Amino acid sequence: MRGQLEKLQRDAEEELRGAVTDEAIQAIRTKYLGRKGVLTSILRGLGGVAPEERPAMGQLANQVKDALSLRIDAVLAGIAASKKDGKLLQERVDVTLPGRGIACGKLHPITLVMQEICGIFASLGFSIAEGPEVELDYYNFEALNMAKDHPSRDMQATFYVTENLLLRTHTSPVQIRVMEKQKPPVRVIAPGKVYRPDADISHSPMFHQIEGLYVDKGVTFGDLKGTLTFFLKHVFGDEIGVRFRPSFFPFTEPSAEVDIRCVMCSGKGCRVCGQSGWLEILGSGMVDPEVFKAVGYDSEEYTGFAFGLGVERIAMLRYGISDIRLFTENDRRFLEQF
Ligand code: PHE
Repeated sequence: MRGQLEKLQRDAEEELRGAVTDEAIQAIRTKYLGRKGVLTSILRGLGGVAPEERPAMGQLANQVKDALSLRIDAVLAGIAASKKDGKLLQERVDVTLPGRGIACGKLHPITLVMQEICGIFASLGFSIAEGPEVELDYYNFEALNMAKDHPSRDMQATFYVTENLLLRTHTSPVQIRVMEKQKPPVRVIAPGKVYRPDADISHSPMFHQIEGLYVDKGVTFGDLKGTLTFFLKHVFGDEIGVRFRPSFFPFTEPSAEVDIRCVMCSGKGCRVCGQSGWLEILGSGMVDPEVFKAVGYDSEEYTGFAFGLGVERIAMLRYGISDIRLFTENDRRFLEQF
């Protein structure tokens, strides 16, 4: 019987070495230690053992059983541990990986340029005024010295809502709205959206303008030149060349268009400036007495200057943007550059 018990131990050990799953190991436990297992059948032979040897055999059988039982528990624990290790290894978090970036919103280039321009005029004592984008014909045209059949209306093709209501074609109507409400001195700028039925690489049906108006006693064309030159040097740099060219607007007299030296070719002549070396940048002039009449200002007592500029045009020249449509396409590769 001793031999049988020792063989049981060896066999079971041997089988355990080959077993890798929980199920296989439990099967070994049942096979050797189970109620109908090998140990039970060996112990059935206890009756044939000499009585004086029986206690020793019983003890040995118990030792074998306990030892095997402990071995099996240990092997099971080993498998559980290596399973856990494997899982931990698989789930390992690499804390050295760079984090996922959070996309951060930015101000639109048009907003940036508007803020910059408004900031420059604010530093000169101008305050901000606003008016509606859906505007009465009266403010957009009539009060600005463009009667219904005035040929100057052709200068600005217009989106009409009704006969008397339209999408404003410029920010100049804000001049009228401000002067109707306020006596001089007036020093305002009016940024906002304007609309014209035009669309190509340099024209958009909606774009932004900033209007400026300065009315007081003794305002001269020299003030206009000084103010606009100061402004343009701030935006394009101290070295920028500026010229005032006679022009015509129904609501200013005299009128001037203001050009800067081409920022692309420094005046040598290129495609952007049409070989002229100059870029037209804004419209301006001394407020026409007819406009003062419309708002009840005495043109003998007050004079003033006004100007209007296109924000997209300035942003395009400033950043070297060749197509105005980029501003409204919402392509993040474009917007992220500002
Ligand atoms: N409103 C004019 C335009 O849109 C610009 C301008 C404004 C000209 C004020 C003179 C004075 O073209």
